[in-house]
Amino acid sequence: MRLFIALPLGKEAAEAVAEEQAALRRVGVTGNFTRPENLHLTLAFLGEQSTPDRAAEALEALHAPAGALLLDHYEVFRRTEILYLAPREDGPARNVALALEKELRSRGFRLEARPFKAHLTLCRRLRLPEGSLPPPRQIWVPVREAVLYESHRLGGVLTYTPVVRKALDEKEDA
Ligand code: 2AM
Repeated sequence: MRLFIALPLGKEAAEAVAEEQAALRRVGVTGNFTRPENLHLTLAFLGEQSTPDRAAEALEALHAPAGALLLDHYEVFRRTEILYLAPREDGPARNVALALEKELRSRGFRLEARPFKAHLTLCRRLRLPEGSLPPPRQIWVPVREAVLYESHRLGGVLTYTPVVRKALDEKEDA
């Protein structure tokens, strides 16, 4: 099974992002748009695993502060033809990703060396119209839980099925 761990978007943010995707289509952007229910920010890509057990154990052990991210600009990765939304300040996601990486590595996962970058994939196989894109609306994404997902095709449709959810540490009120 193909596994990854990500921050889900939550209903409100997913709806706002879906509206941004519709706005992009209206200005002539084409490609393979991420389905709203699949929108997420990847924390760790685990690839093919025989069981979810070790990954679930790492996720259960995860402790990192909850917070929020403000997605505020588009980025285009031309080499891979992907369009992302990105936060100016990715600290809250980075804290979770680094804490998770520690839990995964200590359980024998070999992760990519490439540094973490918080990003929300909007569209693959991107084709852009002439000129620049209008700036996106600012969208707050809650950083409240990390989820282990199985990536698979159900009836030919790419589907991310939650396997384990882990709540992040909310600040206690004094
Ligand atoms: P993305 O986070 O850049 O969109 C499920 O496939 C998720 O894991 C996707 O969101 C995807 O990219 C990420 N992913 C897929 N293959 C990957 C790989 N080889 N290395 C890192 N991340 C990958």
